Amino acid sequence: MPDAVGKGRPPQVYACAYCHLPNGAGRPENTSIAGLSAAYIREQMAAFKNGDRPGSQPKRGPQNSMIALAKACSASDIDEAARYFSALRPTSFVRVVESEAVPRFQVAGWTLTPVAGGGSEPLGNRVVEMPLDFARFEHRDSRTRYIAYVPRGSIALGAELAATGAHGRSVACATCHGVRFEGMVDVPRLAGRSPSYLIRQLHDLRGGTRHGGSADLMKPVVANLTDGDIVALAAYLASCAP
Ligand code: HEC
Ligand code: HEC
Repeated sequence: MPDAVGKGRPPQVYACAYCHLPNGAGRPENTSIAGLSAAYIREQMAAFKNGDRPGSQPKRGPQNSMIALAKACSASDIDEAARYFSALRPTSFVRVVESEAVPRFQVAGWTLTPVAGGGSEPLGNRVVEMPLDFARFEHRDSRTRYIAYVPRGSIALGAELAATGAHGRSVACATCHGVRFEGMVDVPRLAGRSPSYLIRQLHDLRGGTRHGGSADLMKPVVANLTDGDIVALAAYLASCAP
């Protein structure tokens, strides 16, 4: 790992691997960045730095850390990191499961965990993503696995919305993201990514809090998507092999 990735530069530049992990798998509160193109990584670092990705929740700690770090990074830190992460092979660590119910859960250390002996609660039209082993998550183990509970029928519905561009309300995702949603040039991969991250981005793109880079190309895609469409698209895309 180059220094920017493995060590960072204290006090402001945290090591990228602290959050995105050495294999680039990331965690739901940040994101996987393995195999994104170096050009896209550079563009997004600039977007965070320039205030183009504040997030829809201005107090969210991980987002604000990413923004502070992008401001403090030198051009060579970014180049080293972009070269490193773009050369990694992406892997999925999330299993997407359709369900009517979800274990009763609580917020713990930037994630959700089941309440011991808490029984279950209705899932409703939500995606609930949790690490399978909270201790591994807390130790920032690069191979921490996740389970994402998604509504029944959402994977097939998401596949249909992605392929047809929501029957004309949106645009077919593969047009720009590649036939297997593997990404191309400066269009990011979607397949196998955390559904929580995908939902956050579609929400921010639709609400206009995410701009910069080539975000304008996503405007006609998200303008008429409902929350239900976004849940289904995220469920489907997260279930695709990267
Ligand atoms: C303190 C944790 C933290 C550290 C350290 C960190 N990031 Fe991030 N990064 C985040 C979060 C959180 C997001 C997602 C923001 C969001 O949800 O919109 C993110 C998103 C990104 C993205 C956007 C990916 C995409 O698909 O659009 C890139 C690229 C990125 N980080 C690169 C880096 C690089 C390079 C470094 C090291 C120089 C780094 N990050 C260090 C937390 C971190
Ligand atoms: C016209 C081209 C185009 C189409 C069609 C398109 N996208 Fe995108 N998408 C982009 C580009 C370009 C970006 C990167 C935006 C940026 O630079 O910030 C992006 C980014 C995204 C992101 C954020 C990913 C990340 O790494 O942060 C998500 C999620 C996304 N698109 C989902 C979709 C879905 C779902 C569809 C289909 C319903 C779709 N896109 C259709 C061009 C497109």
